[in-house]
Amino acid sequence: MKRRPLLVGNWKMHTTVLDACHLAADIAKTCLGLEDRDVLLAPPFTVLSQVAHMVAETGVLLAAQNVCWEAQGAFTGEISPLMVLDAGGAAAIVGHSERRQIFHEDNVLINKRVRGALAFGLVPILCVGETLDEREGGQTFKIIEEQIRSGLAGVVAADMVETVLAYEPVWAIGTGKTATKEQAQEVHAFIRNLVAGMYEKDVADQIRILYGGSVKPDNIDALMAQDDIDGALVGGAALNAESFERIIHFHKI
Ligand code: 13P
Repeated sequence: MKRRPLLVGNWKMHTTVLDACHLAADIAKTCLGLEDRDVLLAPPFTVLSQVAHMVAETGVLLAAQNVCWEAQGAFTGEISPLMVLDAGGAAAIVGHSERRQIFHEDNVLINKRVRGALAFGLVPILCVGETLDEREGGQTFKIIEEQIRSGLAGVVAADMVETVLAYEPVWAIGTGKTATKEQAQEVHAFIRNLVAGMYEKDVADQIRILYGGSVKPDNIDALMAQDDIDGALVGGAALNAESFERIIHFHKI
């Protein structure tokens, strides 16, 4: 099954308005005429609408880095799906390991975010991944299964085909220590099988599963050549237009 590659730049807590506009413009320039892959940027909330102006008509899509499940109300510090849509976003990253680890977001809360995004027509990008201790303790598949099953609780097949999953081993994030292509492929295949069991094979065949964790210009080609790796969720290397450009223009080896 041929799935359309998806390259996501997660800018995390970086960029002022000026930095963001320059970076977005540079990235958008390199995406003109790209027809066989999707590029999505996830800037901080504060610059989302300015970045939307910079990438208008270029085909580059935007995501929020998190999202609440309510349209509005007394939820200090949160952002609603309607606000994300209003600012030009089409998707939302949910369950990033930094949200799980630093801000103690658990699977139940993350599931509310996933369902909230879907209810308002945003594509959730649900992140999962094990810590180094969990990997070394032989817990990787158990942890991933738990995160996927509870993160997707209540999500129907019609929504599932739109949902994006991202495997980001915590030990590979920001450490320069990428999972090998074999390690990544093994977990991606596990996730696709799991989704096939929870839904149907046809659903599992359609969903895009991204790899994240120290993706760089020099490892993207090998990662993208793996059968079950459909794209990348990039942190550090997405903050530099040149390196993200190289990642966007990967060629399988
Ligand atoms: P790095 O690419 O900086 O390792 O970050 C990965 C990540 O967390 C993307 O969401």
